[in-house]
Amino acid sequence: LCYFVHRLLEFRCPEVESLLRMAGYSKDDIMWRLPAGNLEMSPCWYVNLPNESVAKSISNRCLLTKAFVEIWGEGSSIEELKESIMACDPSIKDPWFGEDVVFRVCVEGFGISLSMEEQLKFITTLNFLPFKGKVSLKKPDVIFHLIVSDCRSNDSLIDGDMPYRIYFGRQISTNDRHIIDSYALRRRAYIGPTSMDCEMSFLMCNQALVRKGHTVFDPYAGTGSILVAAAVRGAHVWGADLDLKILRDGKTSADGKNLTLHSNFEQYGLPQPVALLRMDAHTSPFRPGMEEIFDAIIGDPPYGVRAGGRKCGSAATGAMLSPECVFDGRRTHGPGEE
Ligand SMILES: C[S@@+](CC[C@H](N)C(=O)[O-])C[C@H]1O[C@@H](n2cnc3c(N)ncnc32)[C@H](O)[C@@H]1O
Repeated sequence: LCYFVHRLLEFRCPEVESLLRMAGYSKDDIMWRLPAGNLEMSPCWYVNLPNESVAKSISNRCLLTKAFVEIWGEGSSIEELKESIMACDPSIKDPWFGEDVVFRVCVEGFGISLSMEEQLKFITTLNFLPFKGKVSLKKPDVIFHLIVSDCRSNDSLIDGDMPYRIYFGRQISTNDRHIIDSYALRRRAYIGPTSMDCEMSFLMCNQALVRKGHTVFDPYAGTGSILVAAAVRGAHVWGADLDLKILRDGKTSADGKNLTLHSNFEQYGLPQPVALLRMDAHTSPFRPGMEEIFDAIIGDPPYGVRAGGRKCGSAATGAMLSPECVFDGRRTHGPGEE
């Protein structure tokens, strides 16, 4: 069971597929099955993966999946859940009933908030399972998830008729999404009105299969959010923007410091971009075929909602770019403005 975060819903399955691709698997190696109620927005999707270690290996980068759970049973009532768990193959369950297996059960509600008392009540219904090991909240060997999906009093959460469903199973891997907080825009030195949200930047890098040693280019770099995410994943980054002020001048902080895209890389201790170019994405300065030096080109173009698209030069001259100039002694260059 793929237990998802309830965000960016259309991106959840594609993210898992991209990460699996990065781990060397193809789309044919996995099989999705629609969740109970056949609602794509459901927090739980069934997925068949080649093995457990695959799930573990992608979890550290999976942003939209809370956990992969080996499903032992499910139902639309406690009785149905019990029956389903009883019917689950003993070879799946028995290894976890041993005296030496320290465990914990985590009860979570989707669409409903469960009080501690209600959570304990759910745990008590699992008494029929012959666990012999000790319970530890802090250091369990294994975590079991009991997920209660109940949108009956929260129908704005899901667009459709979400059935009440309880799932139970063993956690294979989990993800804590800490990276989203570590690189949050609210604490970033240099941001602008259209800075790309941190979660989305990391998600784009997952979709673009960015990994250590890759060379990544953002032709609409702005304040560099996508470049930061790519650099965190170990890529060498190149950025470009039409607006020379954004790339070169940045802004002045309240205490008089000059903040630029470079400040963000300094803040996180990341290697600085290989190059920052002032260029018009409509008129690529790269020789034909040179784009192939990039493993990924990721961009957040101006859609005209918060900032409109622009072009440089004139139609007559074909927007010719003038020779490069170096500024601030950095390995950063851009053609002059004339
Ligand atoms: C939506 S913003 C990108 C913001 C960026 N992802 C960030 O995190 O700050 C679009 C950027 O495209 C730049 N831009 C607009 N027209 C362009 C063009 N023709 N070629 C290259 N960049 C352009 C704008 O200056 C702006 O910085």
